[in-house]
Amino acid sequence: MWTAAARAKINLHLAVHAKRPDGYHALVTVFQTIALADTLTIVEHDGPFTLRCPGSDAPEDGSNLVVRAARALADVLGRPEPAGLAATLDKQVPAQAGLGGGSADAMATLRLLCAIWGVAADRQLLAGVGARLGSDVPFFAWGGTALGLGRGDEITVLPPLPALACAIVRPPFGVATAEAYRWLADSRRESPPAPPPFDPPACSQDWPARLAACRNDFEPVVAARHPEIAEAVSALRDAGAVLAMMSGSGSAVYGLFAREADAAAALAPLAARPGWRGWLTATTG
Ligand code: C5P
Repeated sequence: MWTAAARAKINLHLAVHAKRPDGYHALVTVFQTIALADTLTIVEHDGPFTLRCPGSDAPEDGSNLVVRAARALADVLGRPEPAGLAATLDKQVPAQAGLGGGSADAMATLRLLCAIWGVAADRQLLAGVGARLGSDVPFFAWGGTALGLGRGDEITVLPPLPALACAIVRPPFGVATAEAYRWLADSRRESPPAPPPFDPPACSQDWPARLAACRNDFEPVVAARHPEIAEAVSALRDAGAVLAMMSGSGSAVYGLFAREADAAAALAPLAARPGWRGWLTATTG
């Protein structure tokens, strides 16, 4: 039996720039791993590769990133279709939340299959296969605190953010990434995107001191459709968060706090709203 934690991420910063010729947008983003995780377990069994996600709505067919990752790795390694293995995914990270749950699952799959198949899990291999699966999958080959350039897949490790408590809330709705990009494009018909708040190569040792310059370009356009997003950000900020922001293209909103008790106190009233869910977690290296 092989098992791995698939830790989720938040975006500490997410600036979306022009659309590239390949249809993806150029990003300047700072990813941060958090302790909230799915758990992937793989055992040997007779028959084709199977996936179960008990107690969750996650698909168990070829549309799940676990299955796609297994097929992509086999393809890159020149192996036959994956078989003889049964995967079980314990989903804890909410979907359509901007927390990279599916992407983290994909990377956990690549790592476990490398171990099972006796292949060296070097980062270039993991990130290369990951990039075929989604723009934010390569980050999970590194984890910790990292800058994502290109379509978010060109990763540079940054000096780590000091460990902070993290309150996460997810409203009763999710946001599909492609839809959030459409909302952003609509909002920019009249006005072009703002310039980056900081120059990525200048992301040096003291970058955490510039947390105040961080922003998420998706936040205003998602909040324009769902005012609850702005309410949650304000509530976390008013409760003393060092940084409060929507993660990725939403719909989860997080607040980072120096003290866990403050994060818990900020989380409680938001998580108690009808249909909302909350998690008390932490940033991890
Ligand atoms: O790469 P991924 O499959 O996660 O992207 C989902 C969708 O988000 C893409 O089809 C594209 O519409 C949009 N996207 C983008 N620019 C990026 C990343 C994603 O336009 N850098």
